[in-house]
Order: sequence, then C-alpha cells, then structure tokens
Amino acid sequence: MKRSLVPSSAGAAVRAVLRPSTDALRAAGIEDSALSAYQNRVDRGVKGWMHLATANGDLMLATSDADAATPEGLHTLRQLGADLGGILAKNKLRHVTLDAQPAALTVAEGLALNAYRYTKLFGTKAKDQWTLEQLDVVGSDSAEFATWNALMDGVTEARDLINTPVLQLGSLELAARAEQLGAQHGFKCTVLHKAQIEALKMGGLLGVNKGSVDPPVFIVLEYRGEGAKADQPIALVGKGVVYDTGGISLKPSNFMEDMKCDMSGAAAVLGTFCAVAAAKLPVNVVGLIPATDNRLNGNALVPGDVITISNGVTVEVLNTDAEGRLILADALHYAKKYQPKLVIDLATLTGAASRAIGPYATVAMGTADRATWDALQASAGMTHERLVEFPFWDDYKELIKSDIADIKNIGGAEAGMITAGKFLEYFIDYPYVHLDIAGPAFLDRAITYYGKGGTGVGVRLLTHFLTAQSRA
Ligand code: BES
Ligand code: MN
Ligand code: ZN
Repeated sequence: MKRSLVPSSAGAAVRAVLRPSTDALRAAGIEDSALSAYQNRVDRGVKGWMHLATANGDLMLATSDADAATPEGLHTLRQLGADLGGILAKNKLRHVTLDAQPAALTVAEGLALNAYRYTKLFGTKAKDQWTLEQLDVVGSDSAEFATWNALMDGVTEARDLINTPVLQLGSLELAARAEQLGAQHGFKCTVLHKAQIEALKMGGLLGVNKGSVDPPVFIVLEYRGEGAKADQPIALVGKGVVYDTGGISLKPSNFMEDMKCDMSGAAAVLGTFCAVAAAKLPVNVVGLIPATDNRLNGNALVPGDVITISNGVTVEVLNTDAEGRLILADALHYAKKYQPKLVIDLATLTGAASRAIGPYATVAMGTADRATWDALQASAGMTHERLVEFPFWDDYKELIKSDIADIKNIGGAEAGMITAGKFLEYFIDYPYVHLDIAGPAFLDRAITYYGKGGTGVGVRLLTHFLTAQSRA
C-alpha cells in the first residue's frame, strides 16, 4: 500500500470524509436527497460511514465526535478507519482519498492496519485479491506525515516478518533482512554468527540451536538519532525463535502451525527500529535479537540436560519447549555491556500469558521504576497496545529452583508467565520491563483494526514510548 499526503480531496474518484459540513457537501455537488440523508444521521447521532455513489464517484461520509486527545477517542477513530477498510474491500475500491482533518492520521492508521494483507506467497491467486493500493491523506504537515508513514512501514514490516513461514524466513534470512532494513532506514546492524556466539559462550542460544540444521544468529541493532542526549541507551530485546516445534518436548500438532510467529518479539524490535530511524527520532537505542529455530534432530537438547548461560548461571532444561527464556537469557546478559538505562524485552514467551488475558493485551512485569511504568502505560493507552502489569514478587523464584543446577527452565502449573519472567531476572542488572506478547502477537480471528495473523504488537507502543522519552 502506497501512502501519500495530498493537499485536498478535490477530483478524487473515491473519497472518505469525516464530519463534512453541509456547505462543503453542497459545494462538492452532492444532491439534496443524499445531503438530507447525511444530515439525518448527524441529527440522530448515528456513528460510522454512509456510502454514496455520486456522479463524481464513491463518497463515504462519517459522523463521529470522538476526541483525538484521549485513548478512547483515538481508538474510536482508528476503529472508524478500520470500518472504512471493510467498505473499501467489499466494494473492491483500491484507491481512496481520506479527508479527516484534524484526526486524519489516526483514521488513516486504523484503515492502513485493517487493509494490511499478507500476499507475498500468493502465486496464481494474486490477481483476484483485493488490496488497497493507494491511500491518500488530506493534510499539510509533511513532517508529521513522514513520521506516521515510517511507523506504518515499521508495523507492516513486522507483520510481514511474522507471517512469513520458516521455510522462507530462517535465522539467516532474518539476519539478512535486518541488515537490509538497517541500510535502508539508517541504523547500524551487526550480525554475530555461530563462531562469535560460541566465543561469547551463549549456552542458551547454542543449546536451543542444537536441534537445528541452521546456525543461530545474534543480531545487534544500534541507532543514535541526531540530537539524542549522549546518555545511556534504552535496549530492546526481541525473542527470535523463527519456528518453535517445542523440540524433543514436542508440541501437539494442533496450533503448531502458528509457531512461525515465535519471532514476533524480534519483528517488533526491527519494526520499531525502522519507524524510529526513518523518522530520525533523537533517541539512543540498542536492539538485541537472538535467533534460531527450535527443532529436534539427533543432537537436540533433551529434558534433563544442563546448559550454562553466558553469565555462568547453569540451567536444568526440564522442558525443551521453554526455549524462549534460554535464548533471551544470553541476550539480557549481553545487554549489560551497554549500561542501559532501561531494557524492554518482547517475547511470545508463554501460553500462560495468553490464557490469562487472551489476545487483548500484553502481560507486563519487571523491575523498572513507577515513572517508567506510568510512561509506558500512557503510551499503551494512546496506541491501544495495552499492558497488564503482573506481580514480580520473589516468592515465585521458589518455583524455578533446581536440584542439580542453579535454576530450572520451567516452574510447574502455576503462574507460568511469572516464573518465566523471574527466570529472566537472573540475567539483568538494570531497570527492566518484560513484555510477554504471546496473546496479542498473532491472531486467529480479526480483532479491532487487525485481521488474522501477525499484528506487529509492540511497534506502535514502543515508537510512541521512545518518542515521548525523546521529549522528556
Ligand atoms: N512460544 C511458546 C509460547 C507461545 C504459546 C507463544 C502460544 C504464542 C502462542 C513458548 O516457547 C512455549 O512453548 N512455552 C511453553 C512453556 C512451558 C513449557 C513452560 C508454554 O507456554 O506452554
Ligand atoms: Mn516453546
Ligand atoms: Zn517459543
């Protein structure tokens, strides 16, 4: 989808207008019957779109009094954009001009997110599929538009990465794509390969990779925007399991096909870097992505094995399907060398997180101070990428004690999302936020502005948060 800023909607064949005045409609040559139908909706307080076929083309008119300054209002306006996407798809309209100032970019965001389709792997089917090819947004602030457009590109990139099967996106392809994106958007990307990962003694990443034919990679992203304070960076860590079979603790085959989504954390980090770098945000950020598939072959880790993470902590692997925490452990330890002021990880880490609150929000926990949480929650509200804070009490550490190693990688039946978080705490020495995105990362049904599949959750949240931080 190409997105452009245009000065007006004059002459456009398909127009969507938010809250037009009757004068404007009359001037645009709308016949009286249509005008009174619209006025009637306004008077009755009917919300949503009215679709008119006029002599000058398709015209969609929406009434909405949503307040773009509040989380609820922003959500309503994005939902309005998503509803427009539904109308365009149904009528196979591939080019639309959206006239919705001053809320245009918010409505456009809902539309762009709704109209996203993963079409890369269509062969012969491609030509009959509807896609929104061109989204023109009426407005005049080109800097604001460019920043928004970069964000939409970042979300799209993340969703494409998540939706791509492991056959097309193994660890090496993920690394190659990260390098490409760095060159394209202006952030530094360094890929550490197996020999370097061995030299760093990353026993978690190497352990999970033992069952794989493909080598592991450790992707390091660095971006310091012009004008960024020369202080400690914020580090973003993303789980990059390009496919999770469970390993020897094999997953049952129902839903295993969704496990191409197990690099959604990595995708969110990459998408955020695209958005932040393309918008030239004055922030200092580091991105760390440990990546491998989790499979089984003759030399795969088995339950009962003990591995040593790069910081010397030994882990009894009682379930090879609890692999995310093993690779994140090495990444979180690696983050220490940047002396970050904050580290946020994103990971499709536990089914427990998803079972607890479903696909509607992210499970969050950690050691960051209240001010950081408040800032994150503010961004979560404004982007509707909501966070639910879970406890991070030391009581839960009891559950991951091991008889023969320092800790074990599973905690038992209770509070699985928290024992996973407490496991990760063994590898940090900085303020820390852990985001378990297992619920919202990949949808089995359409929810709000998102269709089925990868959502790119985290990109909009983190970009909003980093933008706010850059101004603080
Ligand atoms: N990648 C999965 C978690 C997951 C589940 C993500 C559903 C997205 C949707 C993770 O590696 C996993 O398998 N976790 C196990 C941990 C358990 C063995 C302690 C789980 O949640 O069952
Ligand atoms: Mn797993
Ligand atoms: Zn996993």
